[in-house]
Amino acid sequence: MKRFFLFLLFLSAASSLRAEDGHQLWLRPQRAAPVKVVATGKNSLLLATARQELQQGWQGKPGASVALTLTKDKTIKYDGFRLGPTSVQAATEAGLLYGVYELLRRQQTGQPVQNDLLNPSYEHRLLNHWDNPDGSVERGYAGQSIFWRKDSALVTTSQDKTRWQEYARANASVGINGAVINNVNAAPQILSAEYLTRVKAIADVLRPYGVKTYLAVKFSSPVLLGGLKTADPLDPAVVKWWQGKTKEIYRLVPDFGGFLVKASSEGQPGPQDYGRTHADGANMLADAVRPHGGLVMWRAFVYSPNDKDRAKQAYNEFVPLDGKFRDNVIVQVKNGPIDFQPREPFSPLFGALKKTSVMPEFQITQEYLGHSIDLAFLAPMWEECLGSDTHQAGPGSTVARCTDGSVYPQKHTAMAGVANVGLDTNWTGHDFAQANWYAFGRLAWNNQLKSAQIADEWLKLTFGGPTAAADWNTQFLTPVKQLMLDSREAIVNYSMPLGLHHIMSATREHYGPGPWWAPPKMRADWTPRYYHQADSAGVGFNRTKTGSDAVSQYHEPLATQFNDPTTCPDEYLLWFHHLPWDFKMKSGNTLWNELCAHYDKGVQQVRQFQKVWDKAQPYVDAERFAVVQHKLRSQSGNAVQWKDACLLYFQQFSRMPIPADVEPPM
Ligand code: GCU
Repeated sequence: MKRFFLFLLFLSAASSLRAEDGHQLWLRPQRAAPVKVVATGKNSLLLATARQELQQGWQGKPGASVALTLTKDKTIKYDGFRLGPTSVQAATEAGLLYGVYELLRRQQTGQPVQNDLLNPSYEHRLLNHWDNPDGSVERGYAGQSIFWRKDSALVTTSQDKTRWQEYARANASVGINGAVINNVNAAPQILSAEYLTRVKAIADVLRPYGVKTYLAVKFSSPVLLGGLKTADPLDPAVVKWWQGKTKEIYRLVPDFGGFLVKASSEGQPGPQDYGRTHADGANMLADAVRPHGGLVMWRAFVYSPNDKDRAKQAYNEFVPLDGKFRDNVIVQVKNGPIDFQPREPFSPLFGALKKTSVMPEFQITQEYLGHSIDLAFLAPMWEECLGSDTHQAGPGSTVARCTDGSVYPQKHTAMAGVANVGLDTNWTGHDFAQANWYAFGRLAWNNQLKSAQIADEWLKLTFGGPTAAADWNTQFLTPVKQLMLDSREAIVNYSMPLGLHHIMSATREHYGPGPWWAPPKMRADWTPRYYHQADSAGVGFNRTKTGSDAVSQYHEPLATQFNDPTTCPDEYLLWFHHLPWDFKMKSGNTLWNELCAHYDKGVQQVRQFQKVWDKAQPYVDAERFAVVQHKLRSQSGNAVQWKDACLLYFQQFSRMPIPADVEPPM
């Protein structure tokens, strides 16, 4: 009997560690206890979802009765909720659903369920998919698009629907309530009648999970699709075209969220082609969606080859327009002033736009952080940005507070993440990249959450569970969590430490080193040399008052602090300064030695990650163990390549020896 019981235990343990676990993300099936759900209101789509989730996942007292109640409680904001051990109260049905997921998460991760009020930091929490109509994904490392494929425009299969439903469920479970389902480099045909049929099919599947559908649009669509002669936002025919198109979309998708626009940016058409401003363009679209309750998210990712310092351009173009945007426009700003580098200071636009709704854009897909090969847990990077003090309205004006309505009275608040999702079985290419999807949702819900808590939750939900071994916490959770928390800094160390940026390989799609890359006739601002400026006198980009003066875009005391190399934080040193190789660092090292030490440390860190993961073998299913082990091996090679390539390259200029305690380049 005892042996039979042990056998059963073994079976259940084995089945809880199946390879499909990768597919199930952090939502692995639970052996649920019976529960009675008492819900007020009609049995709407969202309530049906909430009820089903409770019944499939309840870990509380068997036979308990859970009350889901709609309330007019004024302390509940947006889709927030009041949570109790067996109750959820919310002002919206989506709030009830989020409350259910929170309840289940706490049960599954062993956190107490006491009475709590949980309000989201942002009203809109969106994924941006850079998915093209042909199924390819720009900067995607997890296979083809889950939404589009070459011949997909008209045919929606049941397999598509199942996948979209699983996707929507994963989003809802972490509070993500919107998805822009196509690339910001938008194809005009996305607005054609045949593609809109597919958009409707997608929206219908996302809706029961409270996920709204949005589209990225090409500014010249009236010309390319509508046959007009111009896309000038002040031309009445153009205005009419967008109004008509918007009506057509809302007829199909009544709760359509709105438009995301990349315009007058990286060669994309935009209002500036007609001598108009970003505000003219955004407002025209905002007026078109306003009668339907839609939003326009207008991206501030702008730079041109003529600008002496690319990092300054967004601020220069957008600050003069502050207060000129309609109140259903949100200006979407990347976390840093350049482009999703492993480390950037926060974009100076945060806090500087005081009369305009501003939303942060983070990149979940690892364009510059090792694709889906290197292990990078990105919550620490986002936490760092959100926690940065802009000083724009006095001390404590963090990026988080300048964007969530705490500092400025924004009509709308939102956060966007560039998705890392594709058709790969595990959705995100790297099993640990799932944690970034999870982390984005959690931080968009609560921008004060700490990375350690997010990693803890994710590991418990993804690898833990009731069948986990007794020593799981000490042998798996603690070391693997630390690995995750250190992983982003390791990448900074072995790729672009001390404020270096944009020195990656261009020919390998931004994977691996390429500080030397400068083909003839290439735009200077697309070559790494423009960013590192290494020469015999030193290294780094002079953005001080004697250089491009980007420091002045930051509010005091930051401008002064960044301007002086002795007060500028080490992590931003070469972002703001061009310094001699023998510059004396705070540590006492020369700049050259410090640089060598960082590269070397990054390599050592990855080797340490490998050791940690090797020891995790007994606690992980064979497939995920082997895949992650293999990827760490590749990452280790990548780290060495970065170190060797960058040190040998920079050494031509520094003409200084590699310090004895640094592993010499091969
Ligand atoms: C980066 C990225 C592009 C993308 C762009 C954007 O430059 O490499 O692929 O289109 O950002 O955010 O618009």
